Amino acid sequence: MTDNPVQIRPLVAGNWKMNGLKTAFSEAIAVAEAISKPDAAPADVMICPPATMLMVLTEVTHDHKLLLGGQDCHTAESGAHTGDVSPEMLKDAGATAVIVGHSERRSDHGELDRHVRAKAEAARRAGLTAIICIGETAGERGVGMTLDVIKRQLSGSVPDGATAANTVIAYEPVWAIGTGLTPTPDDVAEVHTEIRKTLVDRFQAEGQAMRILYGGSVKPDNAKTLLAIANVNGALVGGASLKASDFLGIVAAYS
Ligand code: PGA
Repeated sequence: MTDNPVQIRPLVAGNWKMNGLKTAFSEAIAVAEAISKPDAAPADVMICPPATMLMVLTEVTHDHKLLLGGQDCHTAESGAHTGDVSPEMLKDAGATAVIVGHSERRSDHGELDRHVRAKAEAARRAGLTAIICIGETAGERGVGMTLDVIKRQLSGSVPDGATAANTVIAYEPVWAIGTGLTPTPDDVAEVHTEIRKTLVDRFQAEGQAMRILYGGSVKPDNAKTLLAIANVNGALVGGASLKASDFLGIVAAYS
């Protein structure tokens, strides 16, 4: 199974991580303006800034097509959880999606699949799309465990009732994040095909239509190759999303 019979509109999402002061608003505005032109690439484009920037970015980009997302959320709607942000708050601030289970959350905060799943369920409750991240470590790839890890994370992190509208999967090999390393196109194809198969087995037509992003050192010069691979329906971009020119160079892979 390589070709997907369902036409999927790609998504290019930028994950700004813990980067972004007021000076970075101009980068997001430049992206928003470029992707709103009539000849813009046929892809959805999203920026997931730090929560501190979300509400202002919503205001300054509201008449453009740019989508905004959060980078993590708590499972509760509100309450005594100092320092946390709920999905309802992200939605209120203008987000339409939230990244959950990023490998940096898994490693920095000990998040396990069951936590990620609960966050994805909370995102759905709030009306946000959950961008659920999965991916193997270098050690796991080295011992041939990649597909096992991927399947285990999918089964543990993706809630029942996931649909193409409320769920996006991001395959991000941990060893490719921020390193400049990427898997070979064949390796990406193998994993994405396995993800698609697993999603279709569990969610049938919804699994066929779900977007599966690739993430990990996506740059303007490798985007065309990576995004042309079967079952790659977009990218989750870290470092190269911080500069509008780089990010737009990746979006242009769909032109
Ligand atoms: P990177 O990060 O593009 O800087 O490798 C990707 C991510 O962590 O989402």
